[in-house]
Amino acid sequence: MIPDVQRVSTLIDRARLEQRIRELGEQITEDYAGKDLTLVGILKGSVPFLSDLMRHIAVPLQIDFLEVSSYGGEMQSSGVVRLVKDLSHPIEGKHVLIVEDIVDTGLTLKYLLEVFSARQPASLAIASLLNKPEGRLEGVELEVDYIGFSIPNKFVVGYGLDLGGYFRNIPFVGVFHPPEDDG
Ligand code: IMP
Ligand code: MG
Repeated sequence: MIPDVQRVSTLIDRARLEQRIRELGEQITEDYAGKDLTLVGILKGSVPFLSDLMRHIAVPLQIDFLEVSSYGGEMQSSGVVRLVKDLSHPIEGKHVLIVEDIVDTGLTLKYLLEVFSARQPASLAIASLLNKPEGRLEGVELEVDYIGFSIPNKFVVGYGLDLGGYFRNIPFVGVFHPPEDDG
């Protein structure tokens, strides 16, 4: 079923997204000066963020993508992370910056850090547009190097984030209010 866009209320508008992503890009530019940088976007949610972020990074870089799946189209994580599509190129010796849409339980990134560190990159860091600190599973310790916004433990959509595959094209980040919460 196609979810109703009327049920989405704005949490972070376009102007705030733009401002913050510019800041992150400038920070990354400073931190990676003189390094061989590869941005790895996690499909599909990171696409708008990566696309805007890379245009604010002024060092030479390459991009690659990887797809994992943990959500079965529902609003709760299945807790099982599966590699759906691997990178196109080796990352050995590269400075790798993983670009994610959101860190919730932390299981996806924990899995990715394990997979990536085994491939011996020169360095490995994480940039996530959103962070839900309250969603973190007990025992999952993660250091997220670049965070756009920390948000409350609510289900959000837009700017890459989806509900059952929909809403990624909404140009801002909003909270989805399910019909179950009515009344
Ligand atoms: P984690 O493994 O629980 O940290 O979840 C990471 C992935 O779950 C993200 O890459 C998103 O695809 C998805 N996710 C987590 N929270 C939300 C949300 O509020 N809206 C949409 N997707 C979410
Ligand atoms: Mg994702």
